[in-house]
Amino acid sequence: MRKKNFLIVGGSSGIGLAITEKLQKKGENVFVASRRGESIKNLSGIKHISVDVTNDEVKLEGLPEQLDGLAYCPGTINLKPFRSLRNEDFQKDFEINVLGAVKIIHEIEGSLKKNQSSIVLFSTVAVGQGMPFHASVATSKGAIEGLCRSLAAEFAPKVRVNCIAPSLTETPLSSHLLNSKEKIEHGAKRHPMERIGTSNDIAALAVFLLEGESSWITGQIIGADGGLSSLRK
Ligand SMILES: NC(=O)c1ccc[n+]([C@@H]2O[C@H](COP(=O)([O-])OP(=O)(O)OC[C@H]3O[C@@H](n4cnc5c(N)ncnc54)[C@H](OP(=O)(O)O)[C@@H]3O)[C@@H](O)[C@H]2O)c1
Repeated sequence: MRKKNFLIVGGSSGIGLAITEKLQKKGENVFVASRRGESIKNLSGIKHISVDVTNDEVKLEGLPEQLDGLAYCPGTINLKPFRSLRNEDFQKDFEINVLGAVKIIHEIEGSLKKNQSSIVLFSTVAVGQGMPFHASVATSKGAIEGLCRSLAAEFAPKVRVNCIAPSLTETPLSSHLLNSKEKIEHGAKRHPMERIGTSNDIAALAVFLLEGESSWITGQIIGADGGLSSLRK
């Protein structure tokens, strides 16, 4: 069987790195795009492409002509009371969470449409459920959910587009929220499953959505959140 080609933007850290490792173990070809590539230099067979998605123009050199899937992982957790949020906070969050994904998808749309393929985007539990201090990030992630459904409609039946909405997951991005025993315990208690998420929890769902076994699933926002969005204990 042909090896599939996946592009993982932000595949050098946290959830993206876990997706990269899982796909590599399955024997797929994985291309990681991020600003730095040190964390993946010992992973055999992974090709790194240097890119900053906040640049006006995003060029991805060295990709194959045909891509089977894209995961777009760069994102922010910029939590502040609304009175402290400046226009620049909203703009910066939008730039990384939304416009970065738009630039990448524009760049590789042709390669994704060569065959059946799948795009995975990332939202947050804080879009479906209002949470204090999340105004800026939830605004951007709400836009990603809109982008997901719109592109899923426009690109069907060739390309599927789905979005994962995680709750608090232990990664470098969330480390400032989990830097004491008390914070970890408090975070765990908020979830019906009584623990914080791991990169592997989220990556397992992302890999399922990227691969063909999910071929009848598109336009969905799927929570991976320890039950936080829908359960009350
Ligand atoms: N962790 C959580 O608790 C949580 C909760 C809800 C939603 N999410 C969402 O899940 C997604 C993954 O989060 P994570 O925690 O795994 O993040 P992470 O550990 O910070 O990883 C982010 C990845 O994106 C890359 N990246 C960041 N800025 C970039 C830029 N300007 N250009 C190119 N690449 C860039 C980083 O590599 P370089 O720095 O080398 O560029 C890194 O590989 C995000 O969209 C996040 O909002 C996370």
